[in-house]
Amino acid sequence: MLCENIGTKDSHLTFAGVDTTQLAEKYGTPLYLMDEDRIRHNCRVYIKAMKKYFGESSFPAYASKAASFRRIYEIMKEEGMGIDLVSPGEIFTAKAASFPLEKSFFHGNNKTDADVEYAVNCGVGYFVADSVFELEAIERCKKNSGNKEKQKVILRLTPGIDPHTYDAVATGKVDSKFGTAIETGQAEELVSKALKMEHIDIVGYHCHVGSQVFDSEGDVYLDAAAIMLSFGAEMQKKYGVQFRIFNLGGGFGVRYTDADPCLDIEKNIAKLGEFIKEKCSELEIDVPQIIMEPGRSIVADAGMTLYSVGTVKEITGYKNYVSVDGGMTDNPRYALYGSKYTVLVANRMNEKADFTADVVGRCCESGDIIQPEVTMPKAERNDIIAVCTTGAYNYSMASNYNRIPRPPIVMISGGKDYVAVKRETFEDLIRNDV
Ligand code: LLP
Repeated sequence: MLCENIGTKDSHLTFAGVDTTQLAEKYGTPLYLMDEDRIRHNCRVYIKAMKKYFGESSFPAYASKAASFRRIYEIMKEEGMGIDLVSPGEIFTAKAASFPLEKSFFHGNNKTDADVEYAVNCGVGYFVADSVFELEAIERCKKNSGNKEKQKVILRLTPGIDPHTYDAVATGKVDSKFGTAIETGQAEELVSKALKMEHIDIVGYHCHVGSQVFDSEGDVYLDAAAIMLSFGAEMQKKYGVQFRIFNLGGGFGVRYTDADPCLDIEKNIAKLGEFIKEKCSELEIDVPQIIMEPGRSIVADAGMTLYSVGTVKEITGYKNYVSVDGGMTDNPRYALYGSKYTVLVANRMNEKADFTADVVGRCCESGDIIQPEVTMPKAERNDIIAVCTTGAYNYSMASNYNRIPRPPIVMISGGKDYVAVKRETFEDLIRNDV
């Protein structure tokens, strides 16, 4: 199986030890499931490996864009994780969960003055600054508020690395909309400008090469680290800016299908740790505090979506469609990226997979495909379809297209289920209609 939290009992699919057909019955479909124990396990893998190979002060900051809702920030707080936040909405949600914001990293290539002010007032620990415009906005905000304390800032840079993933999520290249390029000399310019600002404390540098990265050799991360550390060392020598924090971003890939490799996170971190130590000693700088920002690899395999089958359409001599009661509104990832998924018929797990169909949603457009050409036992109306590995970038990218309410998130922990996010109602849909 794809992940150890997926199993079969009496021809029914189980997730986190619970019969998924019973959950579908209890809560209705479409339904997002999340395995809380798996989320905690994934956090611990990072925490343990980072402390061991990067040093005690290093910690992972969960990239909450992968799945952002109040309960997840509570779990992150309990696990001692940091968090990566990308908008005032995420800051607000983290705050609502009483997450200690001094352990947060505020991202974004276009933070407005209002965003900056909100984040400063909420006390986010670190700004991951993308440009000089942002530094100036922070400077203005601090000046106006009369707050003398300097804002800790990490500069987001592009090391010029191609992560070999899909274009929409490749961010470390020089021509990216994110960050400031080292290659063009603009990163150095940014450092020298920041040094003249009274309220800015440059504590280090950040890069994020991309997402869903499988680099069996780990070269992408090593290459990026080499460039970033050399740059940091140069800035230290030239301008006396201590390289205190190195934030390596996120991006480790997860398994959506059996064809995906199984990435050993601890091994990759061990290799990176060793490389960083060597590089720092070669550059004659202290090893900075290392931060990583995993999103997908914390929550993806902790998620599953359940749907009910409605129409089964066989176009003789052409193709077949199995339509479910959700679609691109709760999972736009095939429509956006052509992403692959493992799709199962949850109530027919012991039956022969001899029927091939596109599993499609209920939205009014042909691109509303969950997964094309799935070979499965022949599904019938009211069967339960399960899509695996939907914990990352599904709920967080869900929409109300066609005025379809978002599904609830039901968490499972120790074999017990509870609602973490309620199902949206029709009333929710018209809440802001004036
Ligand atoms: N740090 C930064 C600065 C990022 O931009 C991202 C993801 C992460 C960390 C977390 O990366 P992860 O560990 O999750 O790969 N919607 C797309 C993914 C967009 C990723 C954006 N940035 C998808 O569904 O595949």
